[in-house]
Amino acid sequence: MARVRRTRFLFFYAEDRGFLDVSELLRGEARAKTVQQLYAISILTGQEHPITASDLEALLAIPCEDWVDCAETPQLADFARDGLIVSEDGRPELAELRRRDEQLDGSGWSLYGALYHSMSRWRDIDVELEERTQVSDQLVAEVAEKVIARFGRPPPHFHAIDGALDVRELPLVDADGGLYRALARRRTTRVFAPGSSLGEHDLAQLLYYVFGCHGYLEVADGVVGLHRTSPSGGGLHPIEVYPLLVSVDGYEPGIYHYHVGQHALELLERLDPAQAAALADHFTCGQFYFKSANALFLLTARFDRTFWKYRHERAYAVVLLDAAHLSQTFYLVCADLGLGSFFTAAVNVANIDARLGIDGFSEGALAVVGCGVPSREESFLNPEFLPYVPRETQA
Ligand SMILES: Cc1cc2nc3c(=O)[nH]c(=O)nc-3n(C[C@H](O)[C@H](O)[C@H](O)COP(=O)(O)O)c2cc1C
Repeated sequence: MARVRRTRFLFFYAEDRGFLDVSELLRGEARAKTVQQLYAISILTGQEHPITASDLEALLAIPCEDWVDCAETPQLADFARDGLIVSEDGRPELAELRRRDEQLDGSGWSLYGALYHSMSRWRDIDVELEERTQVSDQLVAEVAEKVIARFGRPPPHFHAIDGALDVRELPLVDADGGLYRALARRRTTRVFAPGSSLGEHDLAQLLYYVFGCHGYLEVADGVVGLHRTSPSGGGLHPIEVYPLLVSVDGYEPGIYHYHVGQHALELLERLDPAQAAALADHFTCGQFYFKSANALFLLTARFDRTFWKYRHERAYAVVLLDAAHLSQTFYLVCADLGLGSFFTAAVNVANIDARLGIDGFSEGALAVVGCGVPSREESFLNPEFLPYVPRETQA
């Protein structure tokens, strides 16, 4: 007998699939048949598994609130391995699933937020790009045509409301000053100067003005809200930053953590420059251009900090939006410093979590930003946007 409980962190869905019946085809009849395939999705593993109607029945017969004794059948062993039930089995993989189940149960994760997060934790994804910085305009156009051939054209770039009550043209404005210069310069950079490095002063300025703490508010005993240069849902600031330094003057390449309270870098792992670049490449799913950046900044969220206050279905979006705000501030400070910068959501978050030794659910990686001395070389990787003036330019 095995002592088991169904996990609450489980979803089911059904998909109707059409296929050609081979026996009918042999008789000369080509009729599409439809079969329904049931799937069980385990939030604990982030995997979906095809199941039968009798699997579903067997699963639903196991309660999720109480532990029960069940006969140790191969079906039960599959359920446990796939994270559809948890058991008291001490084997490390099963114990880990039970730990995650209990952790999720005891935390403020919304079921839908946890489902999305779990199913989108990329591991070892490689976008398999050919490593080059120059391609002909013709090739770029051919690739675009292929995408259009497959998916059609995208929705139009400008959006007008049919049937608006009135349309009033606004005055054209031209603002000046440092903020507006930084906004005008902001762009994504994917080609960095070979052999360059980032100065310590720029690194410190960047960390302090993007991720640093500029104020605090004690709301209650042990409840402190922080003030950064970007807003944050509830003032909780759950986003942590782990600099992956590739080439920074006076700093060993490696993985660091930015201690916001101390404005200090904590060294977590020493790397040689080649290892640091390889890790940058792997973390960003083989987007080869990012490994030439001087520094990458792995953004994680301490979900349990935001979910302490917000336990609803929008809470996960709040955390993602926090990271997005920091990214824009990062771009602007880099623009002001004359550094090239990027943001990428195509990230092997599960690999980053494993490397940082975080579990992905109380704290987990979300995205990566990075910067460096930009190359002067023109490249298709840094497409040039043409200037646009409303009502004057045709685009
Ligand atoms: C949510 C988000 C995800 C992005 N992911 C990637 C990415 O995976 N790789 C990349 O090269 N750029 C990425 N970018 C940068 C965009 O490609 C870039 O902002 C866009 O091409 C417009 O260029 P600009 O930033 O110079 O205006 C991302 C930007 C955002 C906001």
